[in-house]
Amino acid sequence: MYDEKGQRYLDCINNVAHVGHCHPDVVKAGAQQMELLNTNSRFLHDNLVLYAQRLQATLPDKLSVCYFVNSGSEANDLALRLAWQYTGHKDIITLENAYHGHVSSLIDISPYKFHQLSDVEQNPSVHVAASPDVYRGKYRADHPDPAKAYAGEVKDIIHKVQDKGGKIAAFIAESLQSCGGQVIPPAGYFQQVAEHVRKAGGVFIADEVQVGFGRVGTHFWAFQLQGDDFVPDIVTMGKPIGNGHPMSCVVTTKEVAQAFMSSGMEYFNTFGGNPVSCAIGLAVLDVIVKEDLQGNALRVGGYLTNLLEKQKDKHPLIGDIRGRGLFVGLELVKDRCKLTPATAEAQEIIYQLKEQHILLSADGPHRNVLKFKPPMCFSTEDVDLVVDKIDHILTELEEALGLKFPDKLNVENDGSKRKVSLTQLSVHVPVQKIRTKTKYTNIFLCSTSLISFIILFFFFSKLPSDENEHLCHSGLIYTKGNNPGVTKQTKRLKT
Ligand SMILES: Cc1ncc(COP(=O)(O)O)c(C=O)c1O
Repeated sequence: MYDEKGQRYLDCINNVAHVGHCHPDVVKAGAQQMELLNTNSRFLHDNLVLYAQRLQATLPDKLSVCYFVNSGSEANDLALRLAWQYTGHKDIITLENAYHGHVSSLIDISPYKFHQLSDVEQNPSVHVAASPDVYRGKYRADHPDPAKAYAGEVKDIIHKVQDKGGKIAAFIAESLQSCGGQVIPPAGYFQQVAEHVRKAGGVFIADEVQVGFGRVGTHFWAFQLQGDDFVPDIVTMGKPIGNGHPMSCVVTTKEVAQAFMSSGMEYFNTFGGNPVSCAIGLAVLDVIVKEDLQGNALRVGGYLTNLLEKQKDKHPLIGDIRGRGLFVGLELVKDRCKLTPATAEAQEIIYQLKEQHILLSADGPHRNVLKFKPPMCFSTEDVDLVVDKIDHILTELEEALGLKFPDKLNVENDGSKRKVSLTQLSVHVPVQKIRTKTKYTNIFLCSTSLISFIILFFFFSKLPSDENEHLCHSGLIYTKGNNPGVTKQTKRLKT
């Protein structure tokens, strides 16, 4: 990416520019069709059928009816309408920290958004299930069966809803949670949730708006990571579908589509599936195949994950690395045991990277997860560059904060000594050093901490915030070189 002065940026977050910014094949396909004809989708055009066929070929056979719409929000809103009409039920189960779009019906099912309102009145037909996060969530990697445990939570919600006379219309989830903190659900979770939901007469909606179109590397759709035995009833697509051109799609089964049609109300969408959008959608699919971008996501994503894993051995601030293909999260913590979120540090990294012309963002409920979801043409050289920069910034941050791994730790345990591996360690604060300081040094340290706290408090309270109420700068103060630190601000990059 280049700015207006020709400055080059490395884009590590833009899953909209899926096959690369301004890809010539996509631009050409759109321009050529625009020269020929673009019209109200009342008029049928071959592109519509061709595109529906091509898209369908990437999906399990059962998912055979496409509705073309114009944004991820429109797709999810239509998915809810399909579910309500097909089931005749009203209640929706969504996940903690989920984001599904900006229209009213979706704010209602997006805790990521509605929790930002202090006087929130949650829609009584919407029920929030625990995020299947095996790192920070209720059931973690050391649980014998986190998939069953998390699916059990959904089952309990269903029973509670039914006890109160409600009926489940749908369970909706991103196939991998994005804004929710790059969460990878444990294998088998979706199958079990789908079983509980379908038993209650509801349907399963997989939101692939962020994660679809080969990003996960091994599969074209992220829900396929759960196994061949899992097929959602409705899949929604957006962002990468048109490489920046506003288009999206809902795909469902014949049964759901027929029930929707039988309501008697015609479904019409002026722009959805217009000839230009379909030409662009076809070109995007062509480029993914021609340039083997799914394979690239697998290879480069694997390379990125490996390199980050090595960084984990070096940097106590790194708590977890998780991902599939070119969808990777790096969770920063101040303490690997308590999982104290390193939010300010994450924001600081984003800020410093931007200063060095690398675009990355942080998300999750604590905004401490660095999220990688770059255009799919991302290369191993790009990985080397960004990881090297992160390494440097982390080293400086850890030095400034006095965070380091102890060389070796022996822990007293019932009279016996047991060694603790590096990965289990919390950040070791050099307490011993502090203890040996003189009384006067301690007084000095306390006063400087208090002054720093007061400065930070005023600084944070004066910072502008973005549309999600996130502060625009980490608030960390530099002590090195001539860096102006607190006077600079950065805008949080959007999802
Ligand atoms: C998972 C998910 N679903 C739906 C949407 C809404 O898409 P749009 O902004 O195109 O309406 C978003 C947008 O960020 C999203 O992340």
